[in-house]
Amino acid sequence: MISKTVEDKAFEQQLIGYRRKLHENPELSMEEYETTKAIEGWLDEAGVETIDLPLETGVLAIINGKKPGPVIALRSDIDALPIQEKTGLPFASKVPGKMHACGHDFHMASMLGAAQLLNGRTDEIEGTVRIIFQPAEETGAGALRVLKTGVLDGVRAILGMHDMPNLATGTIGIKSGPLMAAVDHFLIEIKGKGTHAAAPENGVDPVVIASHVVTALQSIVSRTISPLNNAVISVSRLQAGNTWNVIPGKAELEGTVRTFQEDVRARIPGKMRRIAEGVAQAFGAQAILTYNSQGPSLQNDEKLSGWAAETARKSGLHVVTPIPSTIGEDFAQYLEKIPGAFFFMGVSGNSNLHEPDLIIDEQAIAPSARFFADLAIDVLKKLNKE
Ligand code: NI
Repeated sequence: MISKTVEDKAFEQQLIGYRRKLHENPELSMEEYETTKAIEGWLDEAGVETIDLPLETGVLAIINGKKPGPVIALRSDIDALPIQEKTGLPFASKVPGKMHACGHDFHMASMLGAAQLLNGRTDEIEGTVRIIFQPAEETGAGALRVLKTGVLDGVRAILGMHDMPNLATGTIGIKSGPLMAAVDHFLIEIKGKGTHAAAPENGVDPVVIASHVVTALQSIVSRTISPLNNAVISVSRLQAGNTWNVIPGKAELEGTVRTFQEDVRARIPGKMRRIAEGVAQAFGAQAILTYNSQGPSLQNDEKLSGWAAETARKSGLHVVTPIPSTIGEDFAQYLEKIPGAFFFMGVSGNSNLHEPDLIIDEQAIAPSARFFADLAIDVLKKLNKE
């Protein structure tokens, strides 16, 4: 154990303080007004330059190095979730029904720390670091909004992270290639013919047909996707009728598809349509599939992942190869336009992301801030040498 200097301890306490303030005052996607003000205020106190994003919420910090070079970006998301907190912490959410249950407060505190550290190390920075405090990650809409503003035009690399409760503090998961899943949404409407529940022969029962469709959909992953690839299809809502003695006229199935490989993803809607329409037709009904893409899979750049692992080891973090997550992450939108890498940061959590009792280890904040400051400096140096 390395003994900490007074300065280190004060820095740590300051970041923990930011995190607790943010944790007490969670705001939902695109409503992060107070969060935006707080971040701007803290950056201003630390002497870090910010520019107004042409968005209602979110902040962009800019740290110009003393040496010329390219522009790179770091990103933190800033929104919370509609969850009633049940941690019992003294700094638990003061807002009923809202909680930072995904750790975006941890991300913000870490990036605020990285901004301060970088601002004190401008003589080592060969270029410019932009730090985006991005709104609306949870709705999947924030990254695209930021991209549309043009603030990332010309950026050579983008780096970000998610806290990971099942990794220990001091551990970082780094992996090139696919890390998080593409997120698709589907709705299947089955149109039958309603009738008296006592005389089904007079109708076409969409409840029975919907049940067959749910069962048949299970064969897509198990029988048509290679066991060496990954996909999940979940029907999470099945709704029909409103009483006990009437067969309804229609049924609805809704759910999500998660994939990691673009070719696998591209084949699934066609297979779902064939099954839904074919099964419905076999029973004399009609099925209509609506299929929407919510975001691509997150694909990490090989070179930047390698550089990040070097920096992480140098910064004293334990580097592991993480298991990819079927959760979506809108950072994937940046990676479709800009080479970059996204990491899983260990926080020794007691529970899972999006759960009301999640408590993370605040000792993970300062090391995470130091890692991102080191990484920004290293990446700029390496890009300059290319
Ligand atoms: Ni999150």
